[in-house]
Amino acid sequence: MLVSAKEMLTKAKEGHYAVGQFNINNLEWTKAILLTAEELKSPVILGVSEGAGKYMCGFKTVADMVKSMINELNITVPVALHLDHGTYEACYKCIDAGFSSIMFDGSHYAIEENVAKTKELVAVCEEKGLSLEAEVGSIGGEEDGVVGMGECADPDECKMIADLGVTMLAAGIGNIHGKYPANWAGLSFETLAAISEKVGKMPLVLHGGTGIPEDMIKKAIDLGVSKINVNTECQLAFAAATRAYVEAGKDLQGKGFDPRKLLAPGVEAIKATVKEKMELFGSVGKA
Ligand code: 13P
Repeated sequence: MLVSAKEMLTKAKEGHYAVGQFNINNLEWTKAILLTAEELKSPVILGVSEGAGKYMCGFKTVADMVKSMINELNITVPVALHLDHGTYEACYKCIDAGFSSIMFDGSHYAIEENVAKTKELVAVCEEKGLSLEAEVGSIGGEEDGVVGMGECADPDECKMIADLGVTMLAAGIGNIHGKYPANWAGLSFETLAAISEKVGKMPLVLHGGTGIPEDMIKKAIDLGVSKINVNTECQLAFAAATRAYVEAGKDLQGKGFDPRKLLAPGVEAIKATVKEKMELFGSVGKA
């Protein structure tokens, strides 16, 4: 069932668990995540970055694929199709394409401009019944060629954006996209607690879910995080399983070169990663 992320995140916040956002790259990725969510009776959010949208031949192709897949696979759990770190222009493209949720990342604008653009999108999303994620304080690491420094958001600015009526709020708390460097200082729970206090019931989003230790994930959920984004970890799992298949020479045996066989171990590795995360986040059985 394709739905906005609003209800699933409100329930997650009240129930003290988090819903995973898993980024998709192709048909295999999408199928693996949807089947795992259905098997575990977990709500799920499919994330699509602008780069991934382009790679998959545009947002409309993605939306049509996801909707058809939900139908063909009889997926009954709530699924949100969400634009990840969208520019202002991409938000409108995804609204037109049939996404059920969008993220407007205005964190690189001055706060006044972030407020103005977010406010406009709140009204559009409200009218169309879509959920909207906003961001305050850029999240570190590299995503689609954009490198952020990983800052801690200002709790007052978070309140300003939350008060505009967004559905969920991503706030930088020392988190980074991709692998964490060995000298990473960890999440700033002080910042997270201060933001939580200011924004009350607003579900908070933790980006850069790859490689955050389990105890930090649990503490973040305790402090109000209701959506956790995972991307790189599925890519690493997929690549490792595919490498093992080829290194074992399996592509050279019989019809092992058939893409349905060649990609199967990677798909299973994505499923295992998503399952592990859903169990850790506490979303299993919450659909
Ligand atoms: P990772 O790639 O670090 O898991 O981050 C994913 C993310 O935050 C997508 O917005």
